[in-house]
Amino acid sequence: MDRLTLRRPDDWHLHLRDGAMMRAVLPYTARHFARAIVMPNLVPPVVTGRDAAEYRDRILSAKPVGSRFRPLMTLYLTEETEVRDLRAAAEIGLIAAVKLYPAGATTNSASGVRDFARVRRVLENMAQIGLPLLVHGEVADPDVDIFDREAVFIDRVLDPIRRDIPGLRVVMEHITTAGAADYVRDGGADLAATITAHHLVINRNHILAGGIRPHYYCLPVAKRESHRRALVDAATSGAAPFFLGTDSAPHTDAAKLQPCGCAGCFTAPNTLSILAEVFDTMGALDRLESFASLNGPAFYRLPANDDTVTLSRGEPVAFPDRIETADGPVTVFDPGMPLHWRVEG
Ligand code: DOR
Ligand code: ZN
Repeated sequence: MDRLTLRRPDDWHLHLRDGAMMRAVLPYTARHFARAIVMPNLVPPVVTGRDAAEYRDRILSAKPVGSRFRPLMTLYLTEETEVRDLRAAAEIGLIAAVKLYPAGATTNSASGVRDFARVRRVLENMAQIGLPLLVHGEVADPDVDIFDREAVFIDRVLDPIRRDIPGLRVVMEHITTAGAADYVRDGGADLAATITAHHLVINRNHILAGGIRPHYYCLPVAKRESHRRALVDAATSGAAPFFLGTDSAPHTDAAKLQPCGCAGCFTAPNTLSILAEVFDTMGALDRLESFASLNGPAFYRLPANDDTVTLSRGEPVAFPDRIETADGPVTVFDPGMPLHWRVEG
């Protein structure tokens, strides 16, 4: 097969940032994706309905002329989140989900949740109205090995919350382990997971073997090869609970190339080419549409997009090594293999 037409994909997990960075990265997402769930971890975070409305307006005014891209907004859950504000934002369709960061787990997560008992009432209300909770699924406990933090989160945090609050709809974001894929596969209709393009192509050797590669450092950190394979199996299965969330997370090279560099891979420009390559290699191109364009809307109870994108296979496609922003250059994720599929148009 050399050409493939799909319903236009959506990105169910995206960092757009703000200001000059947002203006530089937004066109790459708007070019390929109809909608994106926009992460709220700005500084300061997007915590109230009002913050979300203002942020949405800044995104809409930065989007390229003629683009039909629609940002789907989220609130950042804190121990101070007010039920009334959250319910009002959900009722008017301003927010599509709420994001839970365990405090200290990742970039700009200091305002996240420390004591889960303090957000119980908010979660109960979300279960009542069917508003999805998006979880950064890692514990922040310094005593837990970084490669175990996702597995420990499932046991210590996620599973108890789901038992305690039946009906709570949860998306485990950017899963990185076979255990998480199994947990989600067996979790019933209220549980789903996003998977990034980068976690389908790198394992922890890419970050650490033969020299340290900061541009492959993201959170959750890539795990060993057997886990990468399990993620490829989950994504290419086309099964309903698995869908694309790029976690495209731009940081300037200056912020990445530090003694203590930032976590995040900027994948918005080449995610669809990477996915097509991976699905092609697995003989699963017929399931790419489920993963990239159908399973996400079904979970979020939204219609699939009515327009399409066409990918075609040919000579390897060249992507820029980095893009320029007013804050400085941002390196584009290098999948470390030729990409033969390009998005037409
Ligand atoms: O790699 C990551 N980067 N993981 C996250 O959870 C946050 C993100 C960011 O905001 O840079
Ligand atoms: Zn993220």
